[in-house]
Amino acid sequence: MLGLTGGIACYKIAELTRLLTKAGATVQVAMTEAATQFITPVTMQALSGRPVYTSQWDARIDNNMPHIDLSREADAIVIAPASTDFLAKLAHGMADDLLSTLCIARDCPLLVVPAMNRQMWMNPATQRNVAQLRADGVLVLGPDSGSQACGEVGDGRMIEPEAAYEAIVSFFQPKMLSGRRVLITAGPTFEPLDPVRGITNLSSGKMGFALARAAQQAGADVHLVAGPVTLDTPWGVFREDVQTAQQMHDAVMQAVADCDIFIAVAAVADWRANHVSEHKIKKTADRKLPSFAFVENPDILAAVAKLPHPPFCVGFAAESGNLDANGEEKRVRKNVPLLIGNLGPQTFGRDDNEVALFEAGGVTRLPRADKTTLAQTLIGEIARRLPDMSLIS
Ligand code: CTP
Repeated sequence: MLGLTGGIACYKIAELTRLLTKAGATVQVAMTEAATQFITPVTMQALSGRPVYTSQWDARIDNNMPHIDLSREADAIVIAPASTDFLAKLAHGMADDLLSTLCIARDCPLLVVPAMNRQMWMNPATQRNVAQLRADGVLVLGPDSGSQACGEVGDGRMIEPEAAYEAIVSFFQPKMLSGRRVLITAGPTFEPLDPVRGITNLSSGKMGFALARAAQQAGADVHLVAGPVTLDTPWGVFREDVQTAQQMHDAVMQAVADCDIFIAVAAVADWRANHVSEHKIKKTADRKLPSFAFVENPDILAAVAKLPHPPFCVGFAAESGNLDANGEEKRVRKNVPLLIGNLGPQTFGRDDNEVALFEAGGVTRLPRADKTTLAQTLIGEIARRLPDMSLIS
């Protein structure tokens, strides 16, 4: 059930509805009178493919009790955008229109996605109402900070529809990693030669980001250390951007003490120039070719696995051939309990992948799948292999 209340952010709900229906969700829309001033029920009906309800006295429901019928059909109610007024109503249990009555009559979880002017959001009354809703078990998604429709800048704007969609999907995922802290490296590294040039590789970061999203959806607290990539941060994930292997190593070492699982997905450059030119390297008159000397970068995964109390370490390996022998050899060399191998690097940048799991007990092959599905499967596989923390402490 998607409930719209009055606010300019109603236009974002058209996209949210499209994302939810595309993913196979049944979206039943209800709107307050004020919401219909910002987006029409016709638009919402066309996008959701179902009749839209706005009135408590709607005779289309057989028993004429839409507040009961509609709320019983819902797996969750999402109020987006949630206006100042509607949050106040919810916090005080008021029920003077269809949507507010539906909310108080519900027997399913309630999620709210606030959207309002920054002063309205910061007003102590709103903050009290939001605190009350949280205490009542309502999940509050956002708001974001930034420029607002009124021209002011600050907290209160609705999170983007893609983020709201991810948060709703996350809400429904089984919480296999609840209470676990997961550290993930993703993407390539970039090793500079001079201020404008450097060495990098074709890793897109898609697999690492998909794993970060899946771990967050499974209830984990996720810290993602990302090399230079052009991907959006998954909802609810803490992201730290780095450029070089040394920076990635330092960021990981700083964060690792607090984590239960370390997943090294990054394609870390093995070497860096031992001298980075301060100025752009120019062609010389005699056309002498430049030459570079390299030094080896730290092996981040091996360094973490060597710690006195390492987290559960998972490595990745893209091999260009002989996956079975190379995968197991690499797992043993890096001293990790689990290594996920695939035949690459032709998988770089693709949206799907086919992997094998290497561990002391042998090899398990997983069927080819898109990276989102594969990431969810891998998070399940990792969760199943975790030592029982209650037995350790
Ligand atoms: N890795 C790492 N730090 C490095 C190199 C690799 O953390 N400096 C991690 C990768 O993130 C991956 C795993 O180690 O999880 C295997 O990466 P790969 O590049 O295949 O390993 P290498 O040791 O570099 O082996 P190769 O000689 O085959 O390149």
